[in-house]
Amino acid sequence: MRWAVPRQAYRDGPGRAGAFARAELGNFEAAMRVLGIETTCDETAAAVVRLRPDGAGEILADEVMSQIAAHSPYGGVVPEIAARAHVEIIDQLVVRALRRAGMRPRDLDGVAAAAGPGLIGGVLVGLMTGKGIALAAGKPFLAVNHLEAHALVARLSGRLAFPYLLLLASGGHTQILAVKGVGDYDRLGTTMDDAIGEAFDKIAKMLGLPYPGGPAVEAAARDGDPARFQLPRPMFGRPSADFSLSGLKTATRLAAQSIAPLTRRDVADLCASFQAAVVDMIEDRMRVGLRLFRQRVGLAHGVVVAGGVAANGAIREAMARFCAQAGLPLVAPPQNLCTDNGAMIAWAGIERLRRGLVDDMAAPARPRWPLDPKAERSLNGKA
Ligand code: KG4
Ligand code: ZN
Repeated sequence: MRWAVPRQAYRDGPGRAGAFARAELGNFEAAMRVLGIETTCDETAAAVVRLRPDGAGEILADEVMSQIAAHSPYGGVVPEIAARAHVEIIDQLVVRALRRAGMRPRDLDGVAAAAGPGLIGGVLVGLMTGKGIALAAGKPFLAVNHLEAHALVARLSGRLAFPYLLLLASGGHTQILAVKGVGDYDRLGTTMDDAIGEAFDKIAKMLGLPYPGGPAVEAAARDGDPARFQLPRPMFGRPSADFSLSGLKTATRLAAQSIAPLTRRDVADLCASFQAAVVDMIEDRMRVGLRLFRQRVGLAHGVVVAGGVAANGAIREAMARFCAQAGLPLVAPPQNLCTDNGAMIAWAGIERLRRGLVDDMAAPARPRWPLDPKAERSLNGKA
């Protein structure tokens, strides 16, 4: 029963459990290989990641099946369609990932599945699949927080130590966080209304661009004039590190309505102006976030941008500018590790497993699961 870490260890956080696990693990840690399963939204994914002796991760297999085609007629994710699509494909994806990694379930050292936050139907599919494999193969199971996986994937490169400042921006979440350790997060700012990715998606829908909106708006913005429409930058200059997107969204809609019917050029200019406003807003909010980080935590080892929105080139450039000014290194994971994927779940599983933070078969699906429990009650109920 080498892996029977008491459930209490999980609750106590990394400190005690970590010491316990390290003593138990010995040299074993050097070869840790974990299967990661992701099904919280509209991507079904399975990956195998190995912990290298130098502390970096190596992705042995990374299978992702996007459901974009199934959802795009509706302009957004339909939960029932998502859950059904996950259940139809997850077994095949796991088999493919294991085959590509050249492994059988019994060769694994752990099985990680995203247990939330996300759409409950999808979360259940991945969670049950992960538990089933772990149980059948007699391996430790890790119930991973999807947001924690986004937050930790920057460490897969092996070159980033705690603590660091994180902008986590996806379709469902927009937060500035102090990442102090595995399972140890301070939320410094959050959105008061829409997530940034959600705003990109809504603007795209309004302008007749395809779903998901982020990449479509970014592509259209490339040919546009960012100065044509003077759009607001909500929260700019405020002393808290919070975001608000709804005023910008409304202003973009009103600007579009005032010149309808829209030409391709109009759409490009609207996208460019919207994206420029988001970029300005992010730079301003990050400046405040870093100030709060220094007050509450101290020196940061770096800045990370993660989540689907981090795939945006203009936002990555803005983050690079911000980091250059702040004199801090920027760690921006490659695009395929920014959008939802299985490798980030496997890596978060490794980060937890090496600290002994394993779960038992009673680990619940958690459609809502904030990283910072102290900040659970946000202004509008969104994380
Ligand atoms: O992290 P993710 O794959 O799924 C969630 O956990 O939400 O993020 C998806 C979100 C979508 O809202 C999508 O429009 C946005 O990330 N996104 C982008 C870009 N690529 C994806 N937003 C802006 N620019 C992009 N290039
Ligand atoms: Zn995500």
